[in-house]
Amino acid sequence: MKHFINLKDIPAKDLRKIIVDAKKRKKLRRNLSTLEVDKGSPLKGKILIQMFEKASSRTRISFYLAIKQLGGGTLTLRSNELHLGQGGESISDTAKILSTYGDGFMLRTDSDKKIEDFKNYLSIPVINGLSPSSHPTQVLSDVFTAEEIKKKPISKLNICWIGDSNNVLDSLIAASVKFSFKLNIGCPKNFEPGKEVRAWVKKNNKKMFIYNDPIKAAIGADVIFSDKVISLNDKVNKKKKIEQFEKFKIDKKLMSYAKKDCIFLHCLPRGSEVSDEVFLGEKSHVWQQALNRVHVQKSILLYCFGKLR
Ligand code: CP
Ligand code: NVA
Repeated sequence: MKHFINLKDIPAKDLRKIIVDAKKRKKLRRNLSTLEVDKGSPLKGKILIQMFEKASSRTRISFYLAIKQLGGGTLTLRSNELHLGQGGESISDTAKILSTYGDGFMLRTDSDKKIEDFKNYLSIPVINGLSPSSHPTQVLSDVFTAEEIKKKPISKLNICWIGDSNNVLDSLIAASVKFSFKLNIGCPKNFEPGKEVRAWVKKNNKKMFIYNDPIKAAIGADVIFSDKVISLNDKVNKKKKIEQFEKFKIDKKLMSYAKKDCIFLHCLPRGSEVSDEVFLGEKSHVWQQALNRVHVQKSILLYCFGKLR
């Protein structure tokens, strides 16, 4: 049984296989409408149970569409509607029930430990729909989008992240090792990636380049990524943190230091880290990026359900 919890724990060849499958599937359903099912209904009869302990628009809708397009269905729960969320039932009993009714479980949570606990108790695959340390489905889809737009393997691209060292960046760092791409990170000194992720990169004989000057990070970039400075449930002094990132705002001037044909990607939702001019401008591909999550999610589901061709 395959889980999809952290990119760093998934073999690089499997991640590549997922991307190749997503590319094929996206092409094959060019003329199909949103809810038409892919040929062969590969997940016919299967149900994905999704549970959100935090808000979500894209992850929730894209997983709904993904499993529908594969011929299956989904049920979306808020944890506070369950006995588990009310404190009246253990993770082990909840996991047993989920495994009895469902075929796969996707969880968005504030606790990495909860995902691990579910993994240990479930007898169905678990997908991490965002945790404090990781947003793997987002980043795998972003690799797909970067390659789709730039028409090159990501290993041939200079990737730049300007922003907070958060879950999305941690997954991007993991992707930089798995897919061997150059990663520049631009962030304030006290918001650099944590010790653990840095040690993991080193252990894998890889380097990432951290700059406390956004211009230095952006020079030569093919793709600039960003995310909100304040993440969901970020327990910080928000005003102070936003001020510390002011110099890192992605505007037209900063984009001009990157390659001429550099693109801008952002997982959404957005905050003040990017100007409207860039976010809504011609270098931005954020809507295509969001839509691609459906396509990549489908191949992630097939991988977890043991049906990836
Ligand atoms: N990018 C992303 O995961 O969006 P949601 O929080 O809306 O799911
Ligand atoms: N870093 C953000 C990503 C949202 C999709 C958060 O955790 O809220």
